Amino acid sequence: MPPLSSFVLEGTARLRLGPHPDRARQDAETLLLHLLGKNTAWLMAHGDKLLPDDLSLSYSELLERRYCGEPIQYIVGEMEFYGLPFRVTPDVLIPRPETEYLVEKVLELAASFPVPRIVDVGTGSGAIAVALAHKLPHAAVTAIDLSAATLAIARENAKRNGVAFRFLEGDLLAPVAEERFDFIVSNPPYVPETDRATLSVEVREYEPALALFAGDDGLEVYRRLIPAAFDALTPGGFVALEIGYGQSVAITELLTRSGFEQIEFVPDLQGIPRVACAQRPS
Ligand SMILES: C[S@@+](CC[C@H](N)C(=O)[O-])C[C@H]1O[C@@H](n2cnc3c(N)ncnc32)[C@H](O)[C@@H]1O
Repeated sequence: MPPLSSFVLEGTARLRLGPHPDRARQDAETLLLHLLGKNTAWLMAHGDKLLPDDLSLSYSELLERRYCGEPIQYIVGEMEFYGLPFRVTPDVLIPRPETEYLVEKVLELAASFPVPRIVDVGTGSGAIAVALAHKLPHAAVTAIDLSAATLAIARENAKRNGVAFRFLEGDLLAPVAEERFDFIVSNPPYVPETDRATLSVEVREYEPALALFAGDDGLEVYRRLIPAAFDALTPGGFVALEIGYGQSVAITELLTRSGFEQIEFVPDLQGIPRVACAQRPS
């Protein structure tokens, strides 16, 4: 039986033929470490150790799944968002690093609220709600999603990160129709249906369609969410939304039409507007 380092090399060679040759080595190593329950530092020190026979077959199976395009996060079932550990399954969108801009912006604005009431619409894995609850232990957080399976994962992630808050199943803000909030935050589905064919296999074939698509122009959810958010905010409260590439003009129009003021966009490192933020006038 060859040593672990040879398995990494063999795995890398296999994944170089797959959809992400650039990440072949990293993925091959991640899959092996996942099976062994060890970290990279351990592998560096123990690359000459032998892989138990039963794990050799499991390793080949994991490599094949990755070779076929299954996202590495679904295979290992784990990832980090905002420095916190999250469980991810095919029921939830894999949280993206860009969404951390949304968390940052809300944390900045929430600093002046003694007990911010926050609702995360379309919570998915709970990434945004858990990160906010973790950083703002005094906040009253509510997480909503249309999917019960998704909410089960979000609940698990809250527990895992030692935070507790309310989870509600339903359409957008319908489950909290009678309530008012200081912050309505959301990373809703915003991919145009017409872009489906342009998405990578990893996204198109493996991530939940409910988390991705929002009508032909990608704006269908914002069109309903933005006016509903205005009504559900306290005067002076904020809406913060992740937006898709090229959507800032349409979002400005929707926010203005609903009565929002102080509209601003947070750009990513490439200068692309990623988060729209606006205030309900006092
Ligand atoms: C883009 S994902 C975002 C997940 C998570 N907030 C994140 O940032 O990683 C959108 C989420 O919205 C949920 N969703 C889609 N339509 C919805 C609706 N009408 N009402 C509530 N949630 C909805 C989906 O189930 C999915 O979990």
